[in-house]
Amino acid sequence: MATRVGILTGGGDCPGLNAVIRAVTRRSFDRGWDVLAVREGWRGLVEGIVQPLERRDVSGILPRGGTILGTTRTNPYRLESGVERVLATFERERLDALVAIGGEDTLGVAARLHAEHGFPVVGVPKTIDNDLSGTDYTFGFDTAVTIATEAIDRLHTTAESHNRVMVVEVMGRHAGWIAVHSGIAGGADVILIPEQLVTVEEACRGLEKRHEGGKDFSIVVVSEGYELTYESGERRLVAGEARATDQFGHVALGGVGDALGREIEERTGFETRVTVLGHVQRGGTPTPRDRVLATRYGLKAADLVHEGRFGRMAALHGDELVDVSLEDATAELKTVPPEWYAVAQAFSG
Ligand code: F6P
Repeated sequence: MATRVGILTGGGDCPGLNAVIRAVTRRSFDRGWDVLAVREGWRGLVEGIVQPLERRDVSGILPRGGTILGTTRTNPYRLESGVERVLATFERERLDALVAIGGEDTLGVAARLHAEHGFPVVGVPKTIDNDLSGTDYTFGFDTAVTIATEAIDRLHTTAESHNRVMVVEVMGRHAGWIAVHSGIAGGADVILIPEQLVTVEEACRGLEKRHEGGKDFSIVVVSEGYELTYESGERRLVAGEARATDQFGHVALGGVGDALGREIEERTGFETRVTVLGHVQRGGTPTPRDRVLATRYGLKAADLVHEGRFGRMAALHGDELVDVSLEDATAELKTVPPEWYAVAQAFSG
């Protein structure tokens, strides 16, 4: 039975991380275990940056954004002897179990370590992008959608006043969940996501039709991962130039909103402005819904450790907290299905 539990947060930070840390730690303390903070994601195990967590460390952190443990996109599989160093730190610190809180990359490493080395790890699904399989919702998503929706509401009033097209770029590297949910909630007129190859020409025709119908302003929501797609067949992913990829091979996205805004203005003649929400969507306090979900995930993860059910991930199915295999959860991403996009499309134009 576990008595020393490590906990780490990896990948992009996300509202609700501290709520999970608090829940895992409190339940572990209730069982008389020690909890160790593994700093900065997998880097903490690669470099041996591990410290005991005390009750006071997790006091007052429930509403706080970010992560008290720090986070990086370190991938032990991309570092010289990275995996050996992870295993060595784990042994040196006399850890019995690890709770890894992360998205596809962090949990992908956890799944692989478990499969290849029997590593005693359980996962908690984190990402504002909501693109992890095996769970209905990741924590952090609700907060990001709330922030994006509020921004769209605010842009509506200024768009109306100036008769402008407002383009809002939201996060969503591979999946358009934030764009679809905030777009539906905010009443966007055009929603562009990585999964649906709507062309720039089609989007502009939609705006023109709307304006012909008497409207003189429009809201366009675009995911950062949408590839500018043209009727000629050309497709272009807009990424930050000259920026290196991270250790999981991802380029830094951002900029599609600007490129799209220019296209819209040139093609339709409508005055267009662009807002990039960026990391505002990830910062600050989690919504009550995310605090509750994160808390339930944390308790479930501690229970999985207690039961010795390693290689599993806490997951939400309907309103029930269940567990699924880490391997299945990280095998492929959960993208937006056509029926969800159809809801958004019902109000386009
Ligand atoms: O994976 C979550 C995410 O928010 C993506 O939507 C985005 O592309 C990425 O993180 C940006 O992360 P950072 O700028 O922190 O590397």
